[in-house]
Amino acid sequence: TQSFISSLGEVAALREQLSREDRKLVLTNGVFDVLHIGHVRYLAEARALGDALVVAINSDASVRELKGPGRPVNTAAERAETLRALRSVDHVVVFEERRATNVIDAIRPDIYTKGGDYTPDSLNDEEKALLDRLGVEIRILSLVPGKSTSATLAQLAGETPGGPKRVAILGSGTGSNARAILAAAKDGRLGGEVAVVVCDVPGVGILQVAEEHGVPRLVLDPGTEKRGRLTDAALKELLDRLRALRVDLIVCAGFMRVLREPLLDAYAGRILNLHPSLLPKHPGLDPVAKSLASGDSETGCTVHLVDAGIDTGEILRQERVSILPSDTVESLTERIHEAEHRIYPEVIAERLAGME
Ligand code: GAR
Repeated sequence: TQSFISSLGEVAALREQLSREDRKLVLTNGVFDVLHIGHVRYLAEARALGDALVVAINSDASVRELKGPGRPVNTAAERAETLRALRSVDHVVVFEERRATNVIDAIRPDIYTKGGDYTPDSLNDEEKALLDRLGVEIRILSLVPGKSTSATLAQLAGETPGGPKRVAILGSGTGSNARAILAAAKDGRLGGEVAVVVCDVPGVGILQVAEEHGVPRLVLDPGTEKRGRLTDAALKELLDRLRALRVDLIVCAGFMRVLREPLLDAYAGRILNLHPSLLPKHPGLDPVAKSLASGDSETGCTVHLVDAGIDTGEILRQERVSILPSDTVESLTERIHEAEHRIYPEVIAERLAGME
């Protein structure tokens, strides 16, 4: 059968020809798994900016990594054939990486477009730097409200707002609390299901915990931001994914980056954090060592709502842990963990039960 996937060589030839004729090549990229009217209008708008449109689609393996198991619905060959049937699309190429950087570098378009909820700042740092270096014009195009692949798939699946509540766990470390939450979900003690585990550190234990439980994982690219912060691009990817997975409640379990707008507003009252001290005592880093050093006779753990501050939101539950004269950071951390594993799943269950 005919292939509707073009090689980078074919696109390069087209690019040469266009530049000789002083005409413009437009590039966009995406998954385009289940085509809907939002895609069709977006692609027509992109094509109208220049003289030919190349669509770079994610390979099947990279879609699985980005969107979780069960995706893509259509293979890259099928997606390419569907796209090529549109008047607006001149070539479809497939790329393997999560990012479009290599394909942008190979094609060097005159114009690069992205869909409406992006701003030039929310492009991935690496992509943005490359586009700037190549002098590519970046255009953000508006999307059709309410039309998205995830909304389409949810509607087809007959999903209605009364289904089980969906939780996202965010973590950066070992994942012992994630394990306790997943165990509670499995036993029906959580009153909801875990939709995704998000992590900003490749290769750490919490990712293994997610894999063992068959939960989709999202490894956030920490980008160039300094420790403790998230780039605009990472924050946008996070919010997009949480929305696409229809997450109701976000629970931080050892997530060592500060969340901020627009996420806080989108999930107001629906983001929990766990902290190994009796807040407001010892917020921030190394709370266990600080409580030992300050000669306290007891410490503990706190579950609280997340606001823009560091460990400052409304306290939902605390449990006390006494400090023994023989305690080290390790032994005390271990007893705090036991308390955490008990209370966090319970507070999450209460929160889920209280959501309409
Ligand atoms: C937990 O003790 C949690 O309270 C702490 O990180 C640990 C994660 O352990 N959170 C913070 O310090 C937040 N500032 P885990 O990865 O084994 O669940």
